[in-house]
Amino acid sequence: MRMKLLNIYLFFFFMFFPCSRSCNSNDKTTLLKIKKSLNNPQILNSWDPQTNCCTNWTGVACTHRRITGLTISAGDVVGEIAEEIGDLTDLVILDWSSLSRLRGTIPHSITKLKNLVYLRFRITELSGPVPEYISELQNVTFLDLSFNRFNGSIPGSISQMPKLETIQLSHNKLTGSIPESFGSFVGKVPKLYLGEIPKSLSKTDFNTLSLSGNNFNGEASMFFGHNKTTLRLDLSRNNFHFDLSKLKLAKSLVSLDISHNRVFGELPLELTNLRLDHFNISFNRLCGSIPQGGLLQNFEVYEFSNNLCLCGAPLKRC
Ligand SMILES: *[C@@H]1O[C@H](CO)[C@@H](O)[C@H](O)[C@H]1NC(C)=O
Ligand SMILES: *[C@@H]1O[C@H](CO)[C@@H](O)[C@H](O)[C@H]1NC(C)=O
Ligand SMILES: *[C@@H]1O[C@H](CO)[C@@H](O)[C@H](O)[C@H]1NC(C)=O
Ligand SMILES: *[C@@H]1O[C@H](CO)[C@@H](O)[C@H](O)[C@H]1NC(C)=O
Ligand SMILES: *[C@@H]1O[C@H](CO)[C@@H](O)[C@H](O)[C@H]1NC(C)=O
Repeated sequence: MRMKLLNIYLFFFFMFFPCSRSCNSNDKTTLLKIKKSLNNPQILNSWDPQTNCCTNWTGVACTHRRITGLTISAGDVVGEIAEEIGDLTDLVILDWSSLSRLRGTIPHSITKLKNLVYLRFRITELSGPVPEYISELQNVTFLDLSFNRFNGSIPGSISQMPKLETIQLSHNKLTGSIPESFGSFVGKVPKLYLGEIPKSLSKTDFNTLSLSGNNFNGEASMFFGHNKTTLRLDLSRNNFHFDLSKLKLAKSLVSLDISHNRVFGELPLELTNLRLDHFNISFNRLCGSIPQGGLLQNFEVYEFSNNLCLCGAPLKRC
């Protein structure tokens, strides 16, 4: 009987005082400052000072009462990233996306987040440069700053991030060239989704490379070459200007998108030897007859359209 009472007592104790899961009070104060700097948006209505920020606040994850994950997405947020974000020093995942009017720059205080592994600011109105100091986040493996308004050139320091596996920088207003240092990453070569390009890149063998939707210019011959093992290459929607007939294609290539550039010349015969699952050369200045054979004729007219004078199947006879 006694035992039973004790059990019941313990049951209620843990039911009403889940002390191990309550939120660190400094973290809570910091989150409230972040909320304020976003002008208390509707999507953060659950961030009520009276409740437990670990169990009751949308997008907040904790480990041992400290905030380790902060995911804020899909909302009309008018504001900036609070400087105080740097006080959430246990953060591992920082993922903010589809925040229509999130403005301003990435604050320097972000460099205090030494445990950060996953960093994403995607589809916002953040602007300014991609800061050089982002590289101080030495534990980051995934970096996504795509679909924002970042301008200027890509900081070379990114190549000094030892654990980086993926960099996503497409759809910004980035200009200039890809830094020389991208020819030699300190870690393994990450998947790169960016946007121009130094010669040293020819030493780097990317498995997946996407520079789509920026305004990179110049030639892109460093991404091509017989000896590369590149699988997917997406240079679409830039300002690339090169002679396609002069380039050697990697035998490994399964996806090639150079649409919406100023690429000229003829299509190399080697294209018929590739096991392509995606191919798009539309909106360029290509000319000449389309090589017949392989998988090339499996693609539609749209993938070849709007060039200077291409002919042959799937387009009109030459
Ligand atoms: C907080 O979350 C717990 C568990 O999810 C729930 O039972 C409780 O009602 C919530 N409290 C408030 C004030 O929303
Ligand atoms: C990476 O994180 C670990 C703990 O997760 C930490 O001990 C280490 O200092 C961090 N490394 C760097 C370079 O900040
Ligand atoms: C980036 O944009 C800002 C604001 O529009 C402008 O002042 C700045 O000169 C731009 N920087 C570069 C490098 O284009
Ligand atoms: C490609 O590899 C072969 C043999 O591994 C080498 O002889 C040749 O110089 C390489 N070509 C280029 C352009 O690096
Ligand atoms: C190829 O690019 C054109 C122009 O951007 C686009 O209309 C078409 O849908 C693309 N095809 C594929 C398969 O992505």
